[in-house]
Amino acid sequence: MNVIIGSDHGGFKLKAVVKEWLEAQGYQVTDVGTHSEESCDYPDIARLVAQPLAKGEYDRGIVICGTGIGISITANKVPGIRAALCGDTFSAKMSRMHNNANILAMGERVIGQGLALEILETWFATEFEAGGRHETRVAKIEGRA
Ligand code: RB5
Repeated sequence: MNVIIGSDHGGFKLKAVVKEWLEAQGYQVTDVGTHSEESCDYPDIARLVAQPLAKGEYDRGIVICGTGIGISITANKVPGIRAALCGDTFSAKMSRMHNNANILAMGERVIGQGLALEILETWFATEFEAGGRHETRVAKIEGRA
């Protein structure tokens, strides 16, 4: 699986933890930055992740900022992106099963690293329930039904 990840300065430390976990699973990881704790603008990073993902260059994306809010709002402006901001494992599971989320967003200032890793593990372990009502609803998100 090819995964593209990015964060602003508010998510910089959690991004490093996430990257290490993804690489330990054997995933190919592309880190678009930011590469320091210097202040930067989360919309720029959100687009660096969302645009190539929407073009099909990657399988999944991870975006992190202080709350996960700004970076997920921006990612969701890119057609074809379904970014789910998750602060618990139930939402992480449902965002895959029902929404076929292709980006996981998290807030470094909201959740601890232990929970973030459980969310990550759940999100990657859960498949979309294809072929039924959820597929129709996801198509409707994009105006395809
Ligand atoms: C940066 O201070 C902070 O606003 C950003 O990381 C994020 O929380 C925005 O939604």
